[in-house]
Amino acid sequence: MKRHTIALGGAGLMLGVSLLAIPAQELTGELPDPPAFAAQSEPNFVSVGDILEYKALPEYHEPDWVTQKYVDAGTLPPVKDRLPKEPLVFKTGDMPDGIGVYGDTLRHVIGGRPEGWNYIGGQSQGWGGIDIGLSECLTRTGPLFEVKADELEPLPNLAKSWEWSEDGHELTMHLIEGAKWSDGDPFDAEDVMFYWNDNVQDSNVTAVPSGTGTPERFGVNTKLEALDPYTIKWTFEEVRPTQYLYAMAYDSFCPGPSHILKPEHPKYNADNTYEQYKNAFPPEFMNMPVMGAWVPVEYRPDDIIVMRRNAYYWKVDEAGNQLPYLNELHYRLSTWADRDVQTVAGSADFSNLEQAESFVESLKRSAEPTAPARLQFGARTIGYALRMNFSANGWGEPDARGQAIRELNRDLDFRKAVSIALDRQRLGESLVRGPFTAIYPGGLYAGTTYYDKASTVYYPYNIDAANALLDGLGLTDTDGNGIRNLAGGGGDVEITLLANTDYGTDTNLAEGVIAQLEPLGIRVIANFQTGTARDDLAQSGQFDWTIERQGSEMVSVVQGTTMLAPTGPRTHPFHKAGTDGTLDLLPFEQELVDAVNAFITTSDNAERVELMKTYQHLFTENVYSVGLTQYPGALIVNKRFANIPAGAPIFMFNWAEDNIMRERVFVPADKQADFELHPETLPGAPGGAGPV
Ligand code: GLA
Repeated sequence: MKRHTIALGGAGLMLGVSLLAIPAQELTGELPDPPAFAAQSEPNFVSVGDILEYKALPEYHEPDWVTQKYVDAGTLPPVKDRLPKEPLVFKTGDMPDGIGVYGDTLRHVIGGRPEGWNYIGGQSQGWGGIDIGLSECLTRTGPLFEVKADELEPLPNLAKSWEWSEDGHELTMHLIEGAKWSDGDPFDAEDVMFYWNDNVQDSNVTAVPSGTGTPERFGVNTKLEALDPYTIKWTFEEVRPTQYLYAMAYDSFCPGPSHILKPEHPKYNADNTYEQYKNAFPPEFMNMPVMGAWVPVEYRPDDIIVMRRNAYYWKVDEAGNQLPYLNELHYRLSTWADRDVQTVAGSADFSNLEQAESFVESLKRSAEPTAPARLQFGARTIGYALRMNFSANGWGEPDARGQAIRELNRDLDFRKAVSIALDRQRLGESLVRGPFTAIYPGGLYAGTTYYDKASTVYYPYNIDAANALLDGLGLTDTDGNGIRNLAGGGGDVEITLLANTDYGTDTNLAEGVIAQLEPLGIRVIANFQTGTARDDLAQSGQFDWTIERQGSEMVSVVQGTTMLAPTGPRTHPFHKAGTDGTLDLLPFEQELVDAVNAFITTSDNAERVELMKTYQHLFTENVYSVGLTQYPGALIVNKRFANIPAGAPIFMFNWAEDNIMRERVFVPADKQADFELHPETLPGAPGGAGPV
């Protein structure tokens, strides 16, 4: 370990361990402001009531072929009988191009693969907006990017309205009345209660593929009951925790079709195991009943999933046209990078340009007048961090080596050493040159509502000090192989780094980090896994470190708030409860939890701002995770589509697939293309091979 001997000088080595500790202030530095990069379009800010309302309209319409081929033939009830008593009505004033026309296809490309259709039972459909489109949730947050900041509250969705009791402990929600699943079965409180009782509350089920369908997400000891088929009542320990309205949106409260899921659940089916329940609806199972606007009707492995319009969809425009306007959706099963390439080239229609490595090429092509797609950059809401596993009491059942790494992860000097051994400027530039990436010290993102620069502690690159910190921890290279050894004559400090191979950015950053940590004398070993496998390992705690693109809680704060700290045994991405069900929180983590819980219980905005300053300070001072880089994403949409809202970010409260409200998107008649694979057909019976 020549390098750090030089850095410390002979005197340092003779002084002994305790004197090597470096005062914190010497490690901090001025955080450079992110390079100027203006988002390319701003939303037209509106109130929730400007976007939608629920009401009966004098008449309803549907595509002519639906009436002619299905209703007139007697195989489908008339549209007015398929719609709820008071459908959700999108207001024309908020539709950039107004009332649309029927037809055409939205062609998505995704990098993931479907595990099956039991979404609430934990199966992923491969992301990229496929599950967002299938699942409708009690509330909705994607479109909030265009809601005025002082009126911010989730949009009603399956819950059409709600009221709080006077003491603030009870929230009564009214479900949309008379809405139906895509197979015609009524949607009601039974679906909601099945999700809550037998998925969220049943610890044998990982409710929803991200694992966020946990009881704690809705508050400790929260209760939910059905008062009648269209009324549910929440009881909270807290007073008026409006925060949980966000948890009732995608992806943690989107009920599944209880009429076909219940018979597979072990509680109602003694022959089934939980594994069988989860896997009861494999990708080949077609016409899975959904509340979303399109239903899967065709699946070809590694090729495509095709969806057709849901004849029972419960949303309309102000002229009474049943939505969606688009007849078909495609999900090509390819790679995330291919999504960018194809959308820019015009062979696909939609992409979230989020892998910084493809920015320059995509920008060039999109700037040409003949470009088929529009590309628009938004704010810097994509951020990557190195996250360390904080559990020392058994989460993920580490072996002795793993346990030793957990102990290191819990040591502030160790985390600081790792943090200052990384040159974030270089990491960002290795992805893309130009004004895109910014140094990200961790915590809330610069440019978002609750970010406060003055509360952000930044430890700049300083490899010599990093080495000194590790020396101070007694991690020296006792066997002379260039790798530090664990204190007390232990083995080499070897750390595995979990990352997702579905994205070039994840593995590029991981490789950059591995290389930059070499001079620190620790060996970081890549554990590169495909998305689904990575998520399983991460959720079950089987990792030392991970590098990942962070969730919406770091952007919006009000979304996924309970995930900002280990507020419950199963809520937090890198610190869940150990084998005995308890959380071994460090003192500063307890302070983080307290700040987050206080944030949830107060609706006083000034207080919330202060609490998030506290959070940011605790987070960054203690290097709760090692921030790496932060950059903007661009939304790429084919130019033939109308009703794409101005300023729609690829990621804020939710992904762009929700933000743009696909059910209102349409293609003007003179621009319609001929991409439908199953023209003039509707989804068939559940399980059936395809559309009828
Ligand atoms: C993946 C993609 C994102 C977005 C989401 C939607 O994570 O990388 O761009 O499409 O899926 O869930």
